[in-house]
Amino acid sequence: MKAWIAGTGSYTPARVLTNAELERMVATSDEWIRERTGIRERRIAATGEACSDLAVLAGKRALTAAGLAATDLDMILVATCTGDYPLPATACLVQHQLGATKAAACDLSAACCGFVYALSVADAYVKNGMRHVLVIGSEVMSAITDWTDRNTCVLFGDGAGAVIVSASDGERGILSTHLRSDGALCELIMVPGGGSRTPPSEKVIAERLQYIKMKGNETFKVAVRTLEEIARATLSANGLRVEDLDLYVPHQANLRILKAVMERLDLPIEKVLLNLDRYGNTSAASIPIALDEAVREGRIKDGSLVMLGAFGAGLTWASAVIRW
Ligand code: ACO
Repeated sequence: MKAWIAGTGSYTPARVLTNAELERMVATSDEWIRERTGIRERRIAATGEACSDLAVLAGKRALTAAGLAATDLDMILVATCTGDYPLPATACLVQHQLGATKAAACDLSAACCGFVYALSVADAYVKNGMRHVLVIGSEVMSAITDWTDRNTCVLFGDGAGAVIVSASDGERGILSTHLRSDGALCELIMVPGGGSRTPPSEKVIAERLQYIKMKGNETFKVAVRTLEEIARATLSANGLRVEDLDLYVPHQANLRILKAVMERLDLPIEKVLLNLDRYGNTSAASIPIALDEAVREGRIKDGSLVMLGAFGAGLTWASAVIRW
């Protein structure tokens, strides 16, 4: 028995923030952002629009695609680092909004790897008897972005993507998931204030510690190395070669990172889903948004062999191979 992806959905806020607008906010240029990251624009949630609002819309679309009702769900997992509140879990707000009256609900925190980690949890639960699990990656990164810091504010965007993981008896399904972490590198990407280490205070606000701080250049190098390593391990665990893949759907952080990984793996760009030019880095939402686009555009069809690859704060890195 396998767990397969029975439906996908996504939602991105209407507001588009262009590089030209960022030029008026910090000392940057459209040319620098495009050349160093590949990003042209990103979506930004409206005032008052929170993580669960995006998640509910993506979740509804995934349910429709799978032909299921919310009451069919056994569990809802929301991968996020920008939940509505420190508690309760955003997944509980989603469960209520969807009317998923039979579903357990909790959040999963693994930054940009959150979706792949949550997918692996859903895979395990379905193999243990659950019928339908809704996995959502949803982020309002704009809420933890320092709009005065050019090192980070050009990178992130808001959005949500969702998949329904269901039981399947056939060949299709999640073939394997691979999860890694190295907390020794926790300081590369961090929101230093607002948690139990440094609770919210006037000092936290004054020093802007409630926002993401990142050592971008060091993160870049680790990202290339870890994405390559986990892709090779994933292929090898399944007896697959790069040529067997129909599509690689990576976390959309930086086009230069992904080009370096493609080069090292000898993976042609035609086999890589890239949409970061339009959305930037939406953290845990980036892979499920990309998956939903690929399904709707016909780039993923029944039988397609798809590999996911992610890295992010923690540090964490993760991958999965799916026979669609
Ligand atoms: N506009 C213009 N100049 C800038 C900007 C900007 N927006 N940002 C930085 N610079 C400057 C720097 O100040 C530096 O100037 P200096 O040489 O005078 O000191 C110069 O550009 C080069 O800076 P680097 O940091 O070396 O630039 P790099 O080529 O590494 O690109 C970037 C920076 C885009 C952040 C890149 O390092 C990156 O993408 N890193 C990975 C980020 C990532 O993927 N994070 C993981 C996911 S996040 C999560 O998990 C939530």
